[in-house]
Amino acid sequence: MLTSEATAAALLTAEHASPTERLSAADAAMTRHSVRSYLDVPVSDDEIHALLELTGRAPSAFNLQPWRFVVVRDQEVKNALKEAAYGQKQVGEAPVVIAMYSDMEDTMAHLGDVVHPDLAPDKRASTIAMLEKNFGGMTPEARAIWGNGQANIALGYLLLIAKSEGFDTSPMLGFQADRVKAILDIPAGATMTAMVALGRGADDGFRSHRHAVERMTSFR
Ligand SMILES: Cc1cc2nc3c(=O)[nH]c(=O)nc-3n(C[C@H](O)[C@H](O)[C@H](O)COP(=O)(O)O)c2cc1C
Repeated sequence: MLTSEATAAALLTAEHASPTERLSAADAAMTRHSVRSYLDVPVSDDEIHALLELTGRAPSAFNLQPWRFVVVRDQEVKNALKEAAYGQKQVGEAPVVIAMYSDMEDTMAHLGDVVHPDLAPDKRASTIAMLEKNFGGMTPEARAIWGNGQANIALGYLLLIAKSEGFDTSPMLGFQADRVKAILDIPAGATMTAMVALGRGADDGFRSHRHAVERMTSFR
């Protein structure tokens, strides 16, 4: 397991990335596009680890961090995922496909993992009791929807961080969730957040088309 410092070092020594090549958040936001064609260039374990460590820095309500990842490199598994994704070619072509899901049942079963370690024991216990009461009172379906809302924050982080670190991505929801869960042994009660094809793009994707600030904002 890499430490944060090792993560930063891995990113800085990785072939594709140097401090001068890394994009700012603003530059990554402006230049990121969905890319659906990939070069046959591998992504190393250290690079994936670093990307997911940075993705895991995403905030979540009560710090529950319900997001989970399955990193797929095996070509046969990618081929099966491609079929479950209606033949979307980037699933078979990208060197890595990250299946992202939210698992509130796992979160609820391990609330001690999310409570801040610096809290005094009595405060830890009362925080866990509060979370059990808040979320235990919800139906599993409502909990799952709530958790997936949080997981989407991490999805945004992953897409932006990947671009910043020199990778292209294609986020997808166009797949049969039950088939993907079965292929990857993802718990039935979990919610698929997205599949993300990741690697070095063979093209730049389409020019982005976005709302102007005035179209999506009102000022009072
Ligand atoms: C959650 C999510 C699911 C998506 N699902 C698909 C998909 O299944 N297939 C696909 O080709 N693009 C998919 N997209 C890509 C969107 O169409 C794309 O992000 C949008 O048109 C904006 O283009 P851009 O990503 O190039 O900026 C998805 C994007 C998101 C965020």
